[in-house]
Amino acid sequence: MPLIALCAGDGIGPEVTAETVKVLWAIDKKHGFGFEFVDAPVGGSAYDLFGTPLPADSLEKAKKADAVFLGAVGGTKWESLDYSVRPERALLGLRSELDLFANLRPARLFAPLIDASSLKREVVEGIDILVVRELTGGIYFGKPRGVEEYEGGKRGVNSLVYTTPEIERIARVAFESARKRTGKVCSVDKANVLECTELWREVVTALHDAEYPDIDLSHMYVDNACMQLIRNPKQFDVIVTTNLFGDILSDAAAMLTGSIGMLPSASLSGTKGMYEPVHGSAPDIAGQGIANPLASILSAAMMLTYSFDAPSAGAEIEKAVAAVLEKGYRSADIYSEGCKRVSTAEMGELVIEELGK
Ligand code: IPM
Ligand code: MG
Repeated sequence: MPLIALCAGDGIGPEVTAETVKVLWAIDKKHGFGFEFVDAPVGGSAYDLFGTPLPADSLEKAKKADAVFLGAVGGTKWESLDYSVRPERALLGLRSELDLFANLRPARLFAPLIDASSLKREVVEGIDILVVRELTGGIYFGKPRGVEEYEGGKRGVNSLVYTTPEIERIARVAFESARKRTGKVCSVDKANVLECTELWREVVTALHDAEYPDIDLSHMYVDNACMQLIRNPKQFDVIVTTNLFGDILSDAAAMLTGSIGMLPSASLSGTKGMYEPVHGSAPDIAGQGIANPLASILSAAMMLTYSFDAPSAGAEIEKAVAAVLEKGYRSADIYSEGCKRVSTAEMGELVIEELGK
């Protein structure tokens, strides 16, 4: 029986996760996966209960499970905590402990939501970008790091570090993904300034030449990539980049679609994966039943595709979500005049209804 660890987390995390679990039950009923769920508290709410955002027991459950499903972590309540016990540490801990080095963040525009984008219709219409972000290395984890006393003041240090195998494995994920799409990869670095990313460019190019000559590979400096994403996003298919650049570029790519409440993500190490919406815990609207569960539900679709080898079941969920939007149902974050405003639970129900058709 496939076991899924549920890390609902903080803020709207538990609300959107609850809807996703209902959708997974519905899809299970149709396909007979036999999913089992186990709760694994993480984030600020885990800190409140256990004094740590990533309790050993939760980590153990995540390690044992076939896939991890995460709602969201963080919130104003925990912002003054020491860095080492902030809710976000749970995310970073899970990523590194499970070696989830490949973060896939698709930015796709759902046609009925086109006017939610802040860019012109003709610029964003039909965009379908996959950001492949390296997730367990780079400046997020590099050593030395920290803040130390220095010449009467202080000195803060973080280190950008990548090894050849780390670069190769993420580039491979990008090339393989591109083969299933339009066969185009843009590798983003800052090779004109940072030696570490000069190595990045060399290794990506060497792997391409040796094993993926069929892929149309280009390279771009990160500042130019930001500009190009806004100027002409349709030139991109797969973008592969470092941890920090991927953090930044994926937010920019997300915003092209106008609705961060719609975007799913997968963090993978082979078929083991953690799935979560790209949006945060939105503490300002938590507990009101108005959050958009669709990014979370679409993350479940990615889980079916990548961890349970069931891309057709994943596609069913995506189709159901598209149909609900087509019919004019909107949560508050994507509401526009003339549409039907629905709650978090109603949105979940609507998706389930579509799945039953
Ligand atoms: C993300 C987030 C995280 C990151 C934070 C919450 C640690 O911004 O998943 O993009 O920086 O990776
Ligand atoms: Mg981010």
